[in-house]
Amino acid sequence: MDQLGVGIDIENISRFDKMSRTKDKDFLSKIFTKHEIDYCFSRRKPAQHLAARFSAKEAIIKAASQINLDGIGYNEIQIFNSKRGMPSALILKKAADTLNIKVSMSHNIDYAIAVAVLYGGQ
Ligand SMILES: CC(C)(COP(=O)(O)OP(=O)(O)OC[C@H]1O[C@@H](n2cnc3c(N)ncnc32)[C@H](O)[C@@H]1OP(=O)(O)O)[C@@H](O)C(=O)NCCC(=O)NCCS
Repeated sequence: MDQLGVGIDIENISRFDKMSRTKDKDFLSKIFTKHEIDYCFSRRKPAQHLAARFSAKEAIIKAASQINLDGIGYNEIQIFNSKRGMPSALILKKAADTLNIKVSMSHNIDYAIAVAVLYGGQ
């Protein structure tokens, strides 16, 4: 393992309450990929999932900065869920091609938190 970075973040769910997939389309697409927007708005409480993904992106950006990988845009990070719900992430940037990412998220009615670990690389 050549490089290792860790990041954590917490967000208020209220920041994403009342977000509309149509009215807030421009804002949402600056932060989230289409895949993420589809996932969040397919859930009963989209705000919890939006906040969790925002938190995961911030955690990944912090972890990346620890290994001198800067300048990652929010929508250059893609969060996926396996069929069983387990999250994973990709940084859609060539400089991150050889990095491994581990991410974990949790949310309740008030807060979403996420932790990310990045390892590998050149
Ligand atoms: C996985 C499990 C521990 C999550 O507990 P929880 O209290 O509901 O989770 P939280 O509310 O704290 O966090 C939700 C986040 O956990 C993550 N998560 C969900 N399933 C997960 C899993 N199997 N492994 C790791 N993380 C998981 C997701 O990121 C989810 O947020 P998202 O939907 O916005 O992506 C719980 O669902 C469980 O024990 N399930 C039984 C095991 C299982 O895999 N069941 C699937 C049946 S098909």
